[in-house]
Amino acid sequence: MQDVDMDCLPDGSSRPLADAAKPTTNASNVAKDSDTDLTSSCSANFATDVSPCPGRRALLVTALAGCIGVMTNRTSHAQDDAPGSDERPQKTDLLVFADGEHAGEVIKPGDLKMGGPPIKAWPMDAGSKVVRKGSRLNELLVVRLDASEIDDETRPRAADGILAYTAVCSHAGCNVTAWVKQAEGDKTVFKCMCHNSEFDPRQSGQVVFGPAPRRLAVLPLTMADQSITVAAAFVGKVGLQR
Ligand code: FES
Repeated sequence: MQDVDMDCLPDGSSRPLADAAKPTTNASNVAKDSDTDLTSSCSANFATDVSPCPGRRALLVTALAGCIGVMTNRTSHAQDDAPGSDERPQKTDLLVFADGEHAGEVIKPGDLKMGGPPIKAWPMDAGSKVVRKGSRLNELLVVRLDASEIDDETRPRAADGILAYTAVCSHAGCNVTAWVKQAEGDKTVFKCMCHNSEFDPRQSGQVVFGPAPRRLAVLPLTMADQSITVAAAFVGKVGLQR
């Protein structure tokens, strides 16, 4: 079975990708235009080894478990409700690790391995130190690439080859959780495991495979005092905005 033409269901069975018009994940892993349910972070650990269906099933289960856990604990995280935590990234924001042992720490250029994998991140107000994790529309994928691979349109939005994209898929709002060799080509790209959409960070997050209707929104970066810094608002729509 090939990744390119089959879609795995949560029960571990498969179906042709053409039948996958609707997402198979729980609605809590989907970002909508409405702000009513955007405050939970529903992300799995970043996957770089995409295996056939059983592995994907495990990934989705992990993602769902992550959703439930985060939603349950949300009220205990006072900072999620801090003023500005659900505002979109602002110019001069810094980027911090979204999870792992360094969660909440500022990401430095040296933390990013050339060629990936990406690091999941949140923007953080540089003055107040409020992390903008009150909306999952703010979750980011930060990746460092060889500058010579980045196209002319994308290069001005990169800082020393470092690019930041929304982690929310433009198809049905799942989190983009994989960094894999593309289905049709040799490059390594972002992949959303819900319906196999792929996005190339070298080309402004352009869709290179799958049903996603548009590219991932890119968050322009710059380098200020040797820190990765937000240079402007998102370019492009985030989540399911129409
Ligand atoms: S939500 Fe369908 S491909 Fe991402």
